[in-house]
Amino acid sequence: MVSRSVRLAVIPGDGIGPEVVAEGLKVLDAVSGELTFERTEYDLGAARWHRTGETLPDSVLEELRQQDVILLGAVGDPTVPSGTLERGLLLRARFELDHYVNLRPVKLFPGVATPLAGVTTDDIDMVVVREGTEGPYTGVGGVLRKGTRHEVATQESVNTAYGVERVIRYAFEVAASRPRKHLTLVHKDNVLTFAGDLYQRVLKRVAEEYPQVTTAYCHVDAATMFFVSQPRRFDVIVTDNLFGDIITDLGAAVAGGIGLAASGNVNPDRTAPSMFEPVHGSAPDIAGQRKADPTATILSVAMLLDHIGEGDAARRVERAVSDDLAERAAFGERSTSQIGDAIAKRVSG
Ligand code: NAI
Ligand code: MG
Repeated sequence: MVSRSVRLAVIPGDGIGPEVVAEGLKVLDAVSGELTFERTEYDLGAARWHRTGETLPDSVLEELRQQDVILLGAVGDPTVPSGTLERGLLLRARFELDHYVNLRPVKLFPGVATPLAGVTTDDIDMVVVREGTEGPYTGVGGVLRKGTRHEVATQESVNTAYGVERVIRYAFEVAASRPRKHLTLVHKDNVLTFAGDLYQRVLKRVAEEYPQVTTAYCHVDAATMFFVSQPRRFDVIVTDNLFGDIITDLGAAVAGGIGLAASGNVNPDRTAPSMFEPVHGSAPDIAGQRKADPTATILSVAMLLDHIGEGDAARRVERAVSDDLAERAAFGERSTSQIGDAIAKRVSG
């Protein structure tokens, strides 16, 4: 094998972010071998904002563009006004780096407890392809007469034919690569008639190019019900930014908890680096207590490896996680770093 060096940007962020990222990096080190990571750590998040007022300065964004891939912990802190870091740092990175696919697997691993009764690992195995650069998250809208009784607040959902087509095409590719080859569009086309109709028409048109993939449609409210009552309905889901955000928290809950949910903010055209991160936030309630589960970050590292073309390494990490989860009940309570150590050991062993 030829040795390969990958430029990796690391943004530990706030709260439990640095704690879980440390374990993700431990596992990356364990798979490395011929693969080396040239790491650059970026000090972004609440501490920097308090110090300098900056969230994601242009100069840092330009540096990030020069990297091959990004690993993020989480951002957000109770001492920073809500939305400052989420919009100024996280959403800015996703939009500027054109992460138009937010990839979120929802998979029940063997041995993991689910709150649903009578389901097996075969019942919960889906991938949510959430649109990442449009919809209600664009920040289009505004406020008039703020603070008065006549205040007006608008928050528009922006959907372009171009943006919808590229995410739907990606979802078809994912569906075509999976055994069940089934793609469900989740939206609310009976109420959001303009955006929903655009998604529907594009889905129908692109479907003609994928005769091997079966398609279905589900309203988002019904989807939340089926996530609980019939999760087996779903194989690959394509949906807009806001719906995708909401249903994947539910997906995390049914598949063993937010501590296991991984994600990738993907730029499939590779015009900028993709960014991998656990679905969870900075969890200020448990920060600094060594209680955070690093598994979601470690599974995000596996997705990162897949993205950079290191599929074998990705499978090794996934298998190590799966083996650890299968025996987890027997271990009792473990700290963040004990879980990271155990998985890293399996990867190298
Ligand atoms: P959260 O995901 O941080 O926490 C929700 C609950 O899950 C908490 O009880 C927390 O202790 C628990 N939890 C989360 N991750 C865990 C882990 N790895 N192991 C064990 N338990 C875990 O969501 P919350 O509380 O709504 O938000 C906290 C902050 O994080 C806010 O500032 C929010 O804006 C931000 N946030 C950032 C995200 C990101 O950086 N991508 C995503 C979601 C929220
Ligand atoms: Mg969320």
